[in-house]
Amino acid sequence: MLPIVDKPLIQYAVEEAIEAGATKLVFVTGSSKRAIEDHFDTDAELEQALQSSGKDELLRSIRDIVPKGVSCIYIRQGEPLGLGHAVLCARPAVGDEPFFVHLADDLIAGSPGCLSQMAGEHARHGGSVIAVETVPHEHTSSYGIVAVDDDRRITQIVEKPAPEDAPSDSAVVGRYLLDARIFDKLEHIGKGAGGEIQLTDGISDLLAEQAIYAYSFSGVRYDCGSKLGYLQATVAYGLAHPDTGEEFREHLEQVVSGN
Ligand code: G1P
Repeated sequence: MLPIVDKPLIQYAVEEAIEAGATKLVFVTGSSKRAIEDHFDTDAELEQALQSSGKDELLRSIRDIVPKGVSCIYIRQGEPLGLGHAVLCARPAVGDEPFFVHLADDLIAGSPGCLSQMAGEHARHGGSVIAVETVPHEHTSSYGIVAVDDDRRITQIVEKPAPEDAPSDSAVVGRYLLDARIFDKLEHIGKGAGGEIQLTDGISDLLAEQAIYAYSFSGVRYDCGSKLGYLQATVAYGLAHPDTGEEFREHLEQVVSGN
């Protein structure tokens, strides 16, 4: 629910998913995350009040939070057993279709959005698709790291390897387009890195059965789970925002020049 300028991160995630064609949104949340459900809930009283006071722009902005035709399903992950376990929790709601996984703390500024780009990639050659970007070699232990062949097909994926064990500097970011066969794999894998059920390990098992492609997206990723990434995103989105951009730029110039 951390806001970047005027919207919580989860709202950016929802907008990116809807742009890519998603019509069913499944939120896997932990305890004390009720604010997410409240955010996406309709508030008839507020809408009525805005309507009668003629605040049309505000009314539009709250109605756009979840457009018509899009449904939201909330699933509680009872225990924090890892990303793979969180994805498995969504199985009853997802069914047998390919599905996106979006980790909202990785904010990606791109046009079209990263998930749309990945849907295009999937349409070209089928299979599963995982977004990657090159990271400094000393950072491999913060990411899933992939090795690929000449067709960008993943040949190996390892969760958070030490730099000396990493098969490359190509890191998984928080966007996946996965075949539903991943669920069977996740059912059977045990605990992996950090004692957690890792999505990476499920993907590694799926490699034997299906082509999984590493996709270098176009856009800029901000790791909003880190202090610096969050600040960088706020500055970039604040500068790009039509309401704040100009004055914010002047302010930053003053701050940086010390006047
Ligand atoms: C998770 C995944 C990791 C991936 C990362 C991207 O890690 O397990 O493979 O590279 O997201 O943000 P986390 O950041 O949750 O530790």
